Amino acid sequence: MSSNHETKTLSSSTEGRGSSFNSSFKSRSLDSRPSVENDKASIQNQSIHHSSHFHEMQDAPNMGVVLEARGLGKTYQDGQIKVEVLKDVDLTLAAGELIAVIGASGIGKSTLLHLLGGLDKYTAGEVRIQGHEWKLQTEVQRCHLRNEKVGFVYQLHHLLPEFNVLENVCMPLLIAGEKLPAAAEKATEILEKVGLAHRLRHRIGELSGGERQRTAIARALVKRPACVLADEPTGNLDQYTAEKVYELFVELNRTYKTSLIMVTHDMRLAERLEKVYHIVDKKLERQR
Ligand SMILES: Nc1ncnc2c1ncn2[C@@H]1O[C@H](COP(=O)(O)OP(=O)(O)OP(=O)(O)O)[C@@H](O)[C@H]1O
Ligand SMILES: [Mg+2]
Repeated sequence: MSSNHETKTLSSSTEGRGSSFNSSFKSRSLDSRPSVENDKASIQNQSIHHSSHFHEMQDAPNMGVVLEARGLGKTYQDGQIKVEVLKDVDLTLAAGELIAVIGASGIGKSTLLHLLGGLDKYTAGEVRIQGHEWKLQTEVQRCHLRNEKVGFVYQLHHLLPEFNVLENVCMPLLIAGEKLPAAAEKATEILEKVGLAHRLRHRIGELSGGERQRTAIARALVKRPACVLADEPTGNLDQYTAEKVYELFVELNRTYKTSLIMVTHDMRLAERLEKVYHIVDKKLERQR
């Protein structure tokens, strides 16, 4: 994963559980995370909320296809050592389609999601999200596209510990320039759907593992993105909780007609989705 440390200015609360976004802006240093919060600073700093030109630069998007990878490859280079993780990966994700990607640890599942979601740069081939090729975007345009089109649920939830549940879920909307009252309303609505209406003011550290994962799911879906990329969204939960969170997650994607690519180790969960792919010999193969 590419990562960078930056000092970011976020509208933050300093008071604890009952706090709101109305408190003063404060400068904070956040650790590097491949998530929406990192996008926020880049977007705000460059004031592009209402001036993105990415759509004008691209071919007309085929709305029936959400994500398309052709000849996709990734080789990591650490000094003299090259590690080829993926090669010649082809994938088409249709609107509303739910697919699973399985494979052994270290095989390249997270790498694939990061490439598809524009979080990392591929070294071969191309990936288009609703017709927009990641490689052709500037860094600012990539941030904007990610915020608009993609919801991520990370292997570790990557929620912001200094913000409460509601604030975390509001974040993608605020990044996109929505006003706080409208953002809070939408965030509350989805948090109700994931059963967290009674935890809106809790800090992330005050939640159970399942509640954190449900918060992360709410954050990924709050903007109704074209697709959700989920990296073992239930991997750190006990079987019972994993099952419940998984059911909820799939049901919400189906309700919203969001396309989903879910990485999982759990074949039982994978089999409930429309298609199952696995990564073998650096390539993506359809299993079912
Ligand atoms: N920045 C990097 N530099 C070099 N190698 C990397 C880098 N990131 C990942 N890799 C290597 O790429 C391979 C694939 O990693 P990846 O995280 O995609 O695996 P994964 O299938 O998601 O594994 P897991 O199931 O354990 O999460 C691994 O061998 C890993 O060591
Ligand atoms: Mg992984």
